[in-house]
Amino acid sequence: MSPRSIDLVAEAGLSSGEPAFVLTEEAVAVPFEFGDAPERPEASMPPAQCQVLAIASGKGGTGKTTFTTNLAISLAQRGLRVLIVDADFGLANDHLLLGLEPQGDIGDVLAGRKGIREVILPGPGGVKLLPGGMGSSRLSNLEPYEIAILARELGCLEPEYDMVLVDLAAGISPANLQWMRPAHDRVVVTNPEVTALIDAYGLVKCLSQDGEPNCELHVVMNRVRDETEFQQSMKKLRQVVAKHLSGVRLNSLGYIPFDRYLLHSIAIQRPAVLSHPKAFVTACLRGIEAKLFARHRAWEKRQCRDADIPSYFAKLERQAHE
Ligand SMILES: Nc1ncnc2c1ncn2[C@@H]1O[C@H](COP(=O)(O)OP(=O)(O)OP(=O)(O)O)[C@@H](O)[C@H]1O
Ligand SMILES: [Mg+2]
Repeated sequence: MSPRSIDLVAEAGLSSGEPAFVLTEEAVAVPFEFGDAPERPEASMPPAQCQVLAIASGKGGTGKTTFTTNLAISLAQRGLRVLIVDADFGLANDHLLLGLEPQGDIGDVLAGRKGIREVILPGPGGVKLLPGGMGSSRLSNLEPYEIAILARELGCLEPEYDMVLVDLAAGISPANLQWMRPAHDRVVVTNPEVTALIDAYGLVKCLSQDGEPNCELHVVMNRVRDETEFQQSMKKLRQVVAKHLSGVRLNSLGYIPFDRYLLHSIAIQRPAVLSHPKAFVTACLRGIEAKLFARHRAWEKRQCRDADIPSYFAKLERQAHE
């Protein structure tokens, strides 16, 4: 166990010899609803023209990119204009799962070699992709001024999209948290392994320490055996969050089973919603997408009515300058 895992386990009131979570009857039920969005009116911020979802995880390899690509295509199939930003900037993968071959990436944009529209690729199902770098240590550690440049460039594209999905690198690096904080919705992808749950808790903890009165996060439980394992894993995560963090709302979006069709879709580089439309795993992915789509409609309605939700990219740019 790494020192960080040990700290988190200790913090959760557990010793490494005990089962990682103690199940009690105290289940923390949080209803799914569109309530106090994390954003608040900020007088000087331009209003958002598209909704931005950040997809994150504490531990690596939990399934963020697999989920993001399938979600993007499902949303696009409903007629939404969807852009994926591969924000795993140094070790980008979205293009692989979409079967695309980028001719440029954010590195070219930052170096001034290409404009952002030149590197955005059309993908299957009508989605668009802004590719990150492939094996670029430098891009994995962007300077604040570089984040500000990307935020400004992406901000110019807001009117062209309904939803932007930001597929992040794993972990709680300051840069990662910076991309996550201003998002209109934040989705944490985890799995039932104790390490993944503890790291999900660590991520939730970092986000909840930003002083937001109602920190709302959505959870996707991936690679589960069955409904029972999903429910138990959600309960464990909710318990540890309820025990140590106040003012955090965890909304369960659902689960994705461990599935050989999903593995096959990755191997053939064609997301499951397209390559295996009738598979059970696709039904699960579509169920999660339906909840996020409903939230998007509620978000749109609120923005049409009040125009009080600030632009993600304007917030990101301002934060990078601070
Ligand atoms: N539901 C699933 N069933 C079976 N295998 C899965 C499932 N979800 C993910 N995987 C496996 O896990 C691997 C990692 O998935 P993915 O690349 O989506 O994770 P990630 O969170 O984006 O990783 P990283 O942190 O490196 O960005 C996949 O290549 C696949 O082998
Ligand atoms: Mg990934």
